[in-house]
Amino acid sequence: MPLPLHTPRLMIRPFTPDDVEAMHVLFSDPEVMRYIPRPPSQDIEESRPRVERHIRIHETYGYALWAIVEKASAMVIGDAGLIPFEGKGPEVEVGYHLRRDCWGKGYATEAAAECLRYGFEELRLPRILAVTFPENMASRRVLTKIGMTEQGMTRAYDFDCVLFEMKNPLENG
Ligand SMILES: CC(C)(COP(=O)(O)OP(=O)(O)OC[C@H]1O[C@@H](n2cnc3c(N)ncnc32)[C@H](O)[C@@H]1OP(=O)(O)O)[C@@H](O)C(=O)NCCC(=O)NCCS
Repeated sequence: MPLPLHTPRLMIRPFTPDDVEAMHVLFSDPEVMRYIPRPPSQDIEESRPRVERHIRIHETYGYALWAIVEKASAMVIGDAGLIPFEGKGPEVEVGYHLRRDCWGKGYATEAAAECLRYGFEELRLPRILAVTFPENMASRRVLTKIGMTEQGMTRAYDFDCVLFEMKNPLENG
């Protein structure tokens, strides 16, 4: 099944340049960026290349962080998707970021679970990884809820992170 992906409450599709304004709400929010190893955007022109990067990654790999559209409001409320691990692969990791007023509704879990399904069923990836700062309890909880297994600490993006893994259930019985 090609993109867009659909869940009961969300639509997940590749970014377009028109999404910069909506994503600037996240990229400029210090709370959203608290556990992201890059500083918040100071203005919208700093957010533009962040969106453009994921448009390019999608064109190169066929996956990237994609826009999450809340069906009820038709608004872009964040991103979720698959990216080359540490930006270079060959392993693939799942990631997600949501606007702060959309936290606590189960959206990240709903979006990330669908991205895993896509990675395993459609892309036939042998396994998907995730890394998060140890203090990012919400993210650790999301990864556990979507069925990933904590593997202990690792070094990624030049930081000490918790590594999560899930093997493709279609290929590993
Ligand atoms: C991480 C993030 C995407 C979670 O989004 P969300 O839609 O609120 O997540 P969900 O509602 O699907 O699930 C969050 C879970 O974490 C739990 N949680 C939230 N804050 C927590 C905390 N401080 N300690 C422990 N658990 C926490 C929630 O209770 C929920 O678990 P539950 O369903 O068992 O109650 C969101 O907080 C975010 O955008 N953070 C900033 C970006 C980020 O850190 N991305 C991940 C980078 S690795």
